[in-house]
Amino acid sequence: MKKITIAIDGYSSCGKSTLAKDLAITLQYAHIDSGAMYRAVTLFMIDHDINVEDVDLVVENLSRVKVEFKFVGGANCTFLNDRNVESEIRKLRVSEKVSQIAVIAEVRHAMVALQRQMGQTKGIIMDGRDIGTVVFPNAELKLFLTADEKVRVERRFQELREKGHTITREEVKANLIQRDYIDTNRAESPLRQAEDAILFNNTHITRKEQLAMISALAKERIKSLAIADE
Ligand code: CDP
Repeated sequence: MKKITIAIDGYSSCGKSTLAKDLAITLQYAHIDSGAMYRAVTLFMIDHDINVEDVDLVVENLSRVKVEFKFVGGANCTFLNDRNVESEIRKLRVSEKVSQIAVIAEVRHAMVALQRQMGQTKGIIMDGRDIGTVVFPNAELKLFLTADEKVRVERRFQELREKGHTITREEVKANLIQRDYIDTNRAESPLRQAEDAILFNNTHITRKEQLAMISALAKERIKSLAIADE
């Protein structure tokens, strides 16, 4: 079966990673959470008392950061310099700084290079902010996810609470608004819908319905591209 690249972009907490994970299982594809990479860089800077606003210092320290993904107990986990940081990078202290790290051009160039390397073989689903526009502009299927702010706040709040994080709805909301603002307004590869991306608003759609709709779409795309290749 022909394998393709699927790019999923969109605002904070609109279920990009959830969809990407579900879709990866259905299609037997690999999933890469590009946001986790920016979060890992951010965690490194915080742990080393590096001010994320000091661009020169961040850039100087970038070569000390090694980000990888490894399977642990069936789950894809983010590793920072050989340490499993999957849980740590989801904490508010990282979420509060990550968008400031993600505006830095040198950080983006390093992450994009790594993402392209990871996506060299087709059969990949990558989610983030600039996947369809910058990382894989030739992806065969591009989705741009969105959902109403209230629903996004609630989903992320419940997700973090279930994982045992101590956080309030207000904190989740403030962080979401702040990140969306910075991500949309930055000079280097801002968050925007690629011209050829399909807009998908999942405010009133369940996880199961979303997977059914998008996997049908992906399978159709794979089939039509395979026919075109013949
Ligand atoms: O919390 P959520 O899952 O919505 O975000 P994330 O995918 O973990 O990404 C965290 C942050 O990393 C974003 O708010 C962006 O600032 C940055 N990011 C980016 O700039 N480009 C990407 N391709 C992915 C994430």
